[in-house]
Amino acid sequence: MSFNDLFLRACFKQDVERAPVWYMRQAGRYDPDYQKIKEKYSLLEICSQPELAAEVTLMPVRKLGVDAAILYSDIMNPVASIGIDFDIVKNIGPVIHNPVRTRQDVERLRPVQVEADLGHVLETIKILDRELKVPLIGFAGAPFTIASYLIEGKPSKNYLRTKAMMYGDPETWQLLMRKLADMVATYLREQIRAGAKAVQLFDSWVGALAPHDFTRFVLPTIESIFEQLSDLIDVPKIYFPGVSSGELLPTLGQVKANVIGLDWRIPIEEGRRRLNHRFAVQGNLDPTVLMAPMPVIEEAAKFVIDQGMKEPGFVFNLGHGLFPEASLEKLKELTAFVQQYSSR
Ligand code: CP3
Repeated sequence: MSFNDLFLRACFKQDVERAPVWYMRQAGRYDPDYQKIKEKYSLLEICSQPELAAEVTLMPVRKLGVDAAILYSDIMNPVASIGIDFDIVKNIGPVIHNPVRTRQDVERLRPVQVEADLGHVLETIKILDRELKVPLIGFAGAPFTIASYLIEGKPSKNYLRTKAMMYGDPETWQLLMRKLADMVATYLREQIRAGAKAVQLFDSWVGALAPHDFTRFVLPTIESIFEQLSDLIDVPKIYFPGVSSGELLPTLGQVKANVIGLDWRIPIEEGRRRLNHRFAVQGNLDPTVLMAPMPVIEEAAKFVIDQGMKEPGFVFNLGHGLFPEASLEKLKELTAFVQQYSSR
């Protein structure tokens, strides 16, 4: 089988025979085989074993027939290297034992050492580079989203402490953003060097900000990350501004990314309009639609694909990550449906 580069071509707005498809959180708990592995090992234990992490990355590619793989890892993985002590706790998410609350806490954060501390991630990527017939997407969490965990100490609804620092001590906030941006840019570059064929920056929670606050407190950091990677012209770069990000889209014009991920609240056409047709777009089926019967899922997918295929530069995905409750069978059917329906 030859290498399937459909996803890369779509990211670069080149001609494609059909829409490429992959799913955020495609390696995960909806798969009973993954659950079996999780009975024995935690997420961090899987990540520390390159052969196993590579296998978990490959599972959804084999089972679903998607057009891209995403590295099995977590956005929190690199923060151990800068001095953060954390766990990923079942049914909660990342929990930080030494939350970042003061100027001193931020000053103490060290530069990331990818080779020394994240060698297992690079090794996983190298294995996948040999095995995969579809592109591997490397990824990192964006500074706001990572900061929200570091400051709150756990997942949060209202980001009270995070915003308290952002509004109350903007200099400390900017220092934290800069340090995290350097971590992210270094880490993504190393992932690409090891063999990742595309990278995605996950800013899952930044939609909590008003556009004027996003522009002031976060956007310069996002621009700086993509600027730092802009020499890597063969590697498509995706920025996913997370849930409820529709109002942020018009502010992204200067970001040197190739693709913007859309959540499901904004139809693809409207998303493209707000982005001035400058980027390829990725998304944006509501992940909860997967709870519906198959004909309803297909109707919802058609709505996305019909708009997506009107212009070059469309990658089918969900508007946010898969839920553990999703059905493997429906995901298989949806993948085949997208691949067939979008063909021309
Ligand atoms: O399949 C893939 O997408 C690749 C692997 C991946 C994971 N996390 C593995 C994981 C990716 C890309 C992520 C990104 C991630 N991690 C994000 C951004 C994407 C998003 O969904 O918004 C965020 C915010 C995190 C932080 C995080 N890690 C959360 C909120 C949780 C969920 C807690 C829970 O139990 O629901 C995690 C844990 C996590 N990361 C799981 C997986 C498969 C689930 C728990 C597990 O299997 O151990």
